[in-house]
This record gives sequence, C-alpha cells and structure tokens, in this order.
Amino acid sequence: MNKVRIAVIGCGRIGQMHARNIDLHEKTTLSCVYDVNSEFAEKISRELNVFSVQNVEEIFNNNEIDAVLVSSPTNTHIDFIEKSVAAKKPVLCEKPIDLDIDKVNQCYERLKGNTIPIQLGFNRRFDPGHQAAKHSLMNGDIGELHQCIITSRDPGLPSWDYLKVAGGQFRDMTIHDFDMARFMLGEEPVKIFAISNALINPKIKSELNDSDTLMIIMETASGKQCHINNSRSATYGYDQRVELFGSKGMVISDNRKPHELKKYNSEYVEKQEPYLNFFIERYQEAYMNSITSFVETILEKKPVSVSFDDGRRALILAEAAYKSVKSGKFENIN
Ligand SMILES: NC(=O)c1ccc[n+]([C@@H]2O[C@H](COP(=O)([O-])OP(=O)(O)OC[C@H]3O[C@@H](n4cnc5c(N)ncnc54)[C@H](O)[C@@H]3O)[C@@H](O)[C@H]2O)c1
Repeated sequence: MNKVRIAVIGCGRIGQMHARNIDLHEKTTLSCVYDVNSEFAEKISRELNVFSVQNVEEIFNNNEIDAVLVSSPTNTHIDFIEKSVAAKKPVLCEKPIDLDIDKVNQCYERLKGNTIPIQLGFNRRFDPGHQAAKHSLMNGDIGELHQCIITSRDPGLPSWDYLKVAGGQFRDMTIHDFDMARFMLGEEPVKIFAISNALINPKIKSELNDSDTLMIIMETASGKQCHINNSRSATYGYDQRVELFGSKGMVISDNRKPHELKKYNSEYVEKQEPYLNFFIERYQEAYMNSITSFVETILEKKPVSVSFDDGRRALILAEAAYKSVKSGKFENIN
C-alpha cells in the first residue's frame, strides 16, 4: 500500500477541512465522503471530485477503502468507531469519544483486545509549537518539570444552538486542554480543583447550567502542578498558549500571527496583525500532522499516537472537574 485510501464521515465544519487535508496529503487518497445530510457531502464531493455515498454501510463494506475518518457529531462517534473496527478499518475519530463517560467505558471494555488502530482527534498534540515545547522538556532544556500552564480562549461565543448540544464547557472545550496537560505532564493528574461561571453570557448558566469561563488546577502523584484557564470569548482573538516551567528554565509555545510585521507611527508602536482566527487556521499544520501520524501507524506500524484511552482519560478529568465545581473542593481522580 503506497497511499492510504480514507473515507470521511461527516462533512461539517471540521469534516470538510479533514477531507481537503486528506486530498492534499501525499500519503493519502480521499476515497469518498458521507454525510447524513447529502447536500453537505455533495458540496465537498464536487469541490474535490470524489464520490459521495448515500449509505454509510457502503464505506464499511468497501474493500477499496483502507481507513475511516469520523467527523460527524459526538453522539455518533462510538457507533462509527465500533463499525470501523468490525470492518477492520483503522479509524481517526474526532474528539470527544462521547459525552457520557459510562458509554465510553462500556465501549472501552468491548474493544479490549482490539488491534485495529483507533486514533483520537486531539490535534493540538501535533502543533509544531506545542511539540517543540514537549521536545525541549524531553531534551532536558528546562530540567525537571514543575508547572504546566495552559491558556485556551476562543475568539467568540459559539451559537446558542451549538451550546445547547455541546455537552458542557469542560467536556466540549477543556477536553483538548486536559489532553494537552496529560501530554505535557507525562503522568496522570490525581487531584483536581475547578471553578466555572458564565461571565460572558449569564444565560449560559441560568438556562443551560453551563459555563463560558473556567479555571482548573491539578496535581500529579509526583507533585507536578498544572493550571488550565478557558474562556469562550477573548476580544483579541484565539488565545492558545502553553508554558512549561522547570528546575532549569521555562519554555512557552506562544500565539501565532499571520506574520511578524510590526508597525510604528505617532499613535502606536509595535502594532501587529491579530492572532490567527480560530482552530482551523491556528492548528492548520496540527490537523495535517495528525493525518501523517495516522498514516504512519497504518503504513509503518508505528504505535497509535493518541489512543482511545487518551480520549477516555481526558473525559474522566472533565467529569472530575464537574464534581469539583459542585463540591467546591479538591476531588481525587480515579
Ligand atoms: N479537533 C478539533 O479541533 C475539533 C473542532 C471542531 C469540532 N470537533 C469535533 O468534530 C465533530 C464535528 O463537529 P463540527 O463542528 O464539524 O460539527 P458540524 O455540525 O459542523 O458537522 C457535523 C456534520 O455531521 C453530519 N452528520 C450528522 N449526523 C451524522 C451521521 N449520523 N452520519 C454522518 N454524518 C452526520 C451533519 O450533517 C454535519 O454536516 C464533533 O464531535 C466536534 O466535537 C473537533
């Protein structure tokens, strides 16, 4: 196999981007696309000149499709992961696995012994800046890691319709940061304290019992500390920073701008372009690199880079955060 033939399920915001990336990637071919709303599938099928199938089973039954990328809504992920595994097709599935930890644990049990690769869509692990921070830590540049500080703020509130079904800020948004924390810390957090509120739109709390602004601290068994802060609306743009502080120094994976031009005049100095707008732009390379990692698992038999269990553990941290918000205390993480 020279190129991995991949089908995309779900052609919404992120699915269209994945389809374009698969089409562009030198080691993959976009086999076909499927969306329950055929208009979405047909739009991308016309743009990229690929088939759009009418029934998702056509993907699982087709021997000329090697692998599947799932970018349909979260409540469909477990079903499509299990169907891919049953059809012996490696699957790259968007985050989160599901919003219900019990369903995720049950699926985890059912999949025990499975050897078909399942990669989770925690794209930020593949961001060049965040990866460089991790490499720097592993190379010993900052000595022993003491603290990991993750700032993740969206440029604006999503739609009300999105918020109604998103499953809560910790499960929908912070899930990426929980994964980043585990990735950087290199060990599991054992204690968590979280606070959350709706400071941007109070109706998010009163009507949806959800939050738009939150802070978390966590500790690992060896005493490493991690802080995460999230906002659904930063007026200055998509704010994505990771700081690692250790016994010998610090590294920061910083925000990104389209270029580094600075303007100066009588009214301002060092005026720069705004940050790259949102996840599709900011993490463009990361999404492509996650496809490369998926391909390396399939073609070179490399271990899965972000496993089903990574997805499950991030959700366990989200559940523990909700528990802490409710109790107002530190919670142990099982
Ligand atoms: N990794 C990331 O950075 C990232 C970013 C955004 C979204 N996501 C995740 O990706 C998934 C999709 O999010 P989105 O923002 O693209 O949503 P979206 O609503 O824009 O797109 C989802 C698409 O799936 C289609 N769909 C619905 N049910 C389906 C089914 N049963 N089979 C096939 N297609 C179906 C819809 O018609 C829609 O076109 C979610 O799980 C979300 O959490 C991940």
